[in-house]
Amino acid sequence: MKEDNRPKFTTKFGVIAATVGSAVGLGNIWRFPYEAGMHGGGAFLLVNLLCVLLIGIPVVCAEFVLGRASRRNIFGAMDYLAPKGGKWWRIAGFLGVLSGTLILSFYAVVAGWTLEYLFQSLSGNLTAGGVRESHAEFNNFTAGWRCVFWTIVLLSINGVVVLRGVKKGIENVSNWLMPLLFVLLVMMTVNSLLLPGAMDGLRFLFIPDMAHVDSSTFLSALGQAFFSLSVGLGTLTVYGSYFPSDTKIVKSASIMAGLDTLVAIVAGMIIFPAVFAFGKEPAAGPQLVFEVLPDIFRQMTGGAIWSSVFFLLLLIASLTSTISLSETGVAFCIERWHLKRSKAVALTMGFVTFFGIFCALSFGPLAHVTFFGMTVFGLFDYVTSNIFLPLGGMMVSIFVGWIVDRVTVDKQLSPASKYVRKSIVFLLRYVCPLAILAVFINNLIG
Ligand code: TRP
Repeated sequence: MKEDNRPKFTTKFGVIAATVGSAVGLGNIWRFPYEAGMHGGGAFLLVNLLCVLLIGIPVVCAEFVLGRASRRNIFGAMDYLAPKGGKWWRIAGFLGVLSGTLILSFYAVVAGWTLEYLFQSLSGNLTAGGVRESHAEFNNFTAGWRCVFWTIVLLSINGVVVLRGVKKGIENVSNWLMPLLFVLLVMMTVNSLLLPGAMDGLRFLFIPDMAHVDSSTFLSALGQAFFSLSVGLGTLTVYGSYFPSDTKIVKSASIMAGLDTLVAIVAGMIIFPAVFAFGKEPAAGPQLVFEVLPDIFRQMTGGAIWSSVFFLLLLIASLTSTISLSETGVAFCIERWHLKRSKAVALTMGFVTFFGIFCALSFGPLAHVTFFGMTVFGLFDYVTSNIFLPLGGMMVSIFVGWIVDRVTVDKQLSPASKYVRKSIVFLLRYVCPLAILAVFINNLIG
């Protein structure tokens, strides 16, 4: 596709809103606090920051470079930028697109849960009637067809947004939702910090607990950085391909990574003070949000309002992430098979909805259908996060560090200084592939 007729984001704000929208999601709001809790609190945070800085930001830059230099999705970008005879790189690109759609299939299920919880919060049901069995309630809901319904609703919203295209759909929606997300975050943080016992929560999050620091801290922190920054699957390549030619890639990657990390920390500052103030267990995992928090909201003054604000926040965060994942598939179909956007959206969303239904049913009717001991949901989650994501990240860093012509990379990274450009290429060539290899091996044997 020629540079001129490819759709583009129109403003600097739009570029930041869309990329931050992709990065900030369930990964920040439930995964980060829980991982931090399990791996030494403040120490995890420190290692995570290092990973974002030394590995995350260079790989984000690499994806933006791929997209903008080729004006193609990851499959087309690898095909276009590989030297003659390097066509097999396309396979890596295809793997990226495929895993992006598979991530979307299970991510949409969890995002669908937030729709149910928002609905229940707004109607007052979630917080009515005092403390009760949140665990059974969550299990009942996820075991039924209601969660299939919400998955389909969520994917349909995605379909409508990406159907409207890059400017009117993605950029427009991000421009509205991201500022709203930040306002809701501030409201929730103030509320949490005013709770009695808030200090214990902050101590848990920020003070390193050396007893929980081991080799897995480093590896989990890197895995968290990757998932949270949306790197490795070509999602950011597609967004990079919509950047205007004067967008500063290094600066955008840094702002995106900075805000993404900030939101993760702030999410911890919202959740842990509340968890400690109400005497709950901080390392509860996914249930933290869907089982522990409703109990807390029930005991809080104005609980129905706060739970509505919280689940709206979670919904917005997941929606802008699922939009970026949807566009990864849509852009591929448009370019690869020369489909109209409407057909590409129908095809991608049809594919994802099909697999999404199986993921949604994994907690009820299909709970007994397992592969290698995992449900469909578990399998998709495991294969994409532990295999495709690190593998994709490694391919991208090797491809941009070693294969793509240096002049092209330099041109895309400028106007960053020569020193910055050299450092990024150095990190992409040596540090990123080796570090990712370590995570990869650890995940496979761990
Ligand atoms: N980063 C998002 C989150 O933190 C999830 C996400 C969106 C993602 N696009 C991605 C993860 C691409 C990996 C790859 O929730």
